[in-house]
Amino acid sequence: MSGRGAKVAARAAAGLGLTAVAAGALIWWGPAGLYLWLKAAHVIAIIAWMAGMLYLPRLFVYHSEVPIGSPQSETFKVMERRLLRAIINPAMIATWVLGLWLAWEGGFFRSGWLHAKLAFVLALSGLHGYFSAAVRAFAEDRNVRSSRHWRVVNEVPAVLMILIVILVVVKPF
Ligand code: HEM
Repeated sequence: MSGRGAKVAARAAAGLGLTAVAAGALIWWGPAGLYLWLKAAHVIAIIAWMAGMLYLPRLFVYHSEVPIGSPQSETFKVMERRLLRAIINPAMIATWVLGLWLAWEGGFFRSGWLHAKLAFVLALSGLHGYFSAAVRAFAEDRNVRSSRHWRVVNEVPAVLMILIVILVVVKPF
C-alpha cells in the first residue's frame, strides 16, 4: 500500500472506530427521543450522500469534454477523488448504518414499503459502485463514455431519490 493509501486507510479505520464507540455509547445510554435523533442524523447523511451522487456525474460530463492530459482534466481528477472519498463514501456508510438502525428500532423489517425502499437503495448503492469505478477510469485516463452518456446517467440518482422518499414518507403499502 502507498503512503497515501495507508493514511486514508488509517483515517477510515479511526472514523469507523469513533462511530462504533459513539453508537455503543448511545445504545448504552438509551436517551428518550433517541429514535428522532437517529432519524435526524439519517436525513443529514442522506443529504450529503445525494449531494455527491448528483454532483459527481455532472463532473464526469465536463471531464469527458476536455482533452486527456490537459490542466482541466487533472483538476477534475482531484475534484472527483476528493468528493468520492471525503463525502460520498462516508455519507453512504452513515446512511446505511442509521437507516438499518431505524428500521430495527421502529420494527419496520416486515413492512412492504421498507422492502421496496431497500430495493431502490440497493440500486442507488450499485450506482455508487459504478461511479467509484468511473472515478478510477478517469484518474487513469481510461474513460470511454461520452458526455451524453454521463448526462443521461446524471438523472438516475434523482429518480431513485424521488421514489425512495415517496416510499418512506407516504408508506403506500
Ligand atoms: C440505506 C438503507 C436505508 C434504510 C434501511 C432506511 C430506513 C429508514 C427508516 C426505517 C426510516 C424511519 C421511518 C419512520 O420513522 O417513519 C427512514 C427515514 C427516512 N429515510 Fe431512510 N433508509 C435508508 C436509506 C435512505 C435513503 C437513500 C433515502 C433518500 C434518498 C432515505 C430517505 C429517508 C427520509 C427522507 C426519511 C424520513 C421520513 C420521515 O420522517 O417521514 N433513506 N429510513
